[in-house]
Amino acid sequence: MLIVFLITLYSNSSQKTKNKIKSEAFLSPEIELGAGSVVNKFYFDVNFPRGHIALKSFNVEVIDEAGNHIPLQEIYIHHWVLIKYHKPKHNNGHHQVSLRRNSGLCQGNIQGQYFGLGSETGGTDLEIPDPFGIEVGNPKEIPDGYEEAWILNIHAIDTRGVEDKLGCIECKCNLYNVTKDENGYPLRPNYQGGLKCCYDNTQCKLKKGFEGPRRRFYLKYTVKWVDWDDYAMPLKIYVFDITDNVQMPYGYGSKEMSSNHDCRSEYDVEACNTAYKEGSDCIDVKKTYLPMESGGYVIYGVAHQHSGGIGSALYGQDGRIMCSSIPRYGEEGYVVGMSTCYPEPGSMKIMDGEILTFESNYSNTRGHTGVMGLFYLLVAEQLPHQHKKHSSRA
Ligand SMILES: *[C@@H]1O[C@H](CO)[C@@H](O)[C@H](O)[C@H]1NC(C)=O
Ligand SMILES: *[C@@H]1O[C@H](CO)[C@@H](O)[C@H](O)[C@H]1NC(C)=O
Repeated sequence: MLIVFLITLYSNSSQKTKNKIKSEAFLSPEIELGAGSVVNKFYFDVNFPRGHIALKSFNVEVIDEAGNHIPLQEIYIHHWVLIKYHKPKHNNGHHQVSLRRNSGLCQGNIQGQYFGLGSETGGTDLEIPDPFGIEVGNPKEIPDGYEEAWILNIHAIDTRGVEDKLGCIECKCNLYNVTKDENGYPLRPNYQGGLKCCYDNTQCKLKKGFEGPRRRFYLKYTVKWVDWDDYAMPLKIYVFDITDNVQMPYGYGSKEMSSNHDCRSEYDVEACNTAYKEGSDCIDVKKTYLPMESGGYVIYGVAHQHSGGIGSALYGQDGRIMCSSIPRYGEEGYVVGMSTCYPEPGSMKIMDGEILTFESNYSNTRGHTGVMGLFYLLVAEQLPHQHKKHSSRA
């Protein structure tokens, strides 16, 4: 009896890994840009695989109407973000949105993502090893009368013909001739650049006399998934933000710590004064502390940095390095990929209540505005051999 049972189990699990990986490429709505212009749009209810599934991989490319790749020297993706929400099955036209955030600590949209990256997206892999997956569409988690849907936020800058490409992608306010933010509020003094200066429909300064046609593009995202089954193991998504200035009023190790987060998404890097600091490395090191209420096993990690970034890492409370992620540069100083971490499942454990250190380094041989430091981490609360517990989830 036992042998038969084991054989059944075995054949079931080997069957699982062989079959039913599904893959589909989806297109965002059509987006139009003129030379030097910016879009920052939120598209509701975009195409996405349906059903109770385990997401395994996610890949993004910018293409034109003919399906050809558009290089990031022409259309720069500042960021794209995919956010999960519940929408009423029968709504009357307007979007009643109940965001379903990831497990991270920040409250912003960018940090609440399921997936997201920037210009480096084409050169950064995300392939979740078996039997793990990002669980979506679990009917038990969707309230009656609602269905799961996805918001795609795309922030793109068309840099054809601009006077200063790096200045435009760093959203320097003077190049956009912006002195008030999107809502009409004056910028704070010394705000030199960042998202408040390159909002939807702003225009970066073009070279004198440059004229380029408007162009249409799409974000093409290729998703791989498997149907959810008893062998699949769910992952939690954390997105850490280096600007998260965690308040620790109740002292190190207290649960209360996680209540106060101030995540601003972006920060500035001041140029080092080489003449002043003889022999200085000119590296801007930024750190933040991340209290993890519950731990688990790191399955995947990757950072997001902008041009000028030179590496980012997560450390455990005892100083052990959990994952470091380094940008790869292409032509004209663009980040075209980030290195990723796939620790052997089980080998990299975060303890309950552990306080991680997150570090983001930028070169400051020149100053930068509006740079980002994010860390995207996938964590399993259980490993396959601990799978017994799964019946209690049901
Ligand atoms: C910049 O903005 C000001 C006022 O908002 C406007 O008067 C001026 O013409 C703009 N300059 C350019 C170069 O667009
Ligand atoms: C960041 O820079 C500091 C100072 O040079 C260095 O000690 C640290 O290892 C760097 N971290 C990463 C992730 O590159």
